Amino acid sequence: MTSQSEKTPRVAIIVAVDEQNGIGRKGELLCHLPADLKHFKEITTGHAIIMGRKTYESLPKGALPNRRNIVLTSDKETENYPGCIVVRSLEEAFASTNDEKIVFIIGGERVYRASLPLADMLYMTRIHHTFDEVDTFFPKVDLNEWEFVEEKRHERDEKHPYSFSFQTYIKKGQ
Ligand SMILES: NC(=O)c1ccc[n+]([C@@H]2O[C@H](COP(=O)([O-])OP(=O)(O)OC[C@H]3O[C@@H](n4cnc5c(N)ncnc54)[C@H](OP(=O)(O)O)[C@@H]3O)[C@@H](O)[C@H]2O)c1
Repeated sequence: MTSQSEKTPRVAIIVAVDEQNGIGRKGELLCHLPADLKHFKEITTGHAIIMGRKTYESLPKGALPNRRNIVLTSDKETENYPGCIVVRSLEEAFASTNDEKIVFIIGGERVYRASLPLADMLYMTRIHHTFDEVDTFFPKVDLNEWEFVEEKRHERDEKHPYSFSFQTYIKKGQ
């Protein structure tokens, strides 16, 4: 197993969770928060992003612009993923990003579960609400392993039906 210090590039997870660690329902996000989408865009633009096939399918306009989109799937029809690099394993995904300083894991549940043990950074939007009918979850994070870096709260307003907080963590020992 490769140690954190030998591993390149750095692996950052970016996720929005509700108060039960929920991340999605019926193939979609739990809610529309424009400021969170802006935050996601600012953090990930210019970098590689790794996602599962279902998350790719949830993107309204397909591959996200100005990012190297890497999609994990067993689907052999690569033309189903225009503008994306299609890979069959997380190892293959990381191998295709060797020239990047940082890569972002953008979901969904299956990919978060596989990559959390490898991650160095965590950008977590905590939505201060508990949604119904959630069917996908972020894995439990042992906060003893993570150093809290910063938090910025965004209150509810006319465009944001829920308040939320942007939190950043770094894996201890980095
Ligand atoms: N709140 C958030 O921040 C956030 C972020 C992203 C997604 N989401 C939500 O999460 C939900 C989707 O999550 P999900 O867990 O159902 O799906 P997912 O992780 O997006 O995609 C799962 C699919 O990806 C492929 N895959 C995943 N890991 C793989 C691996 N290690 N090796 C090879 N292939 C792999 C497989 O595709 P094949 O079946 O094609 O082989 C698998 O069926 C949606 O509701 C979405 O909106 C939320």
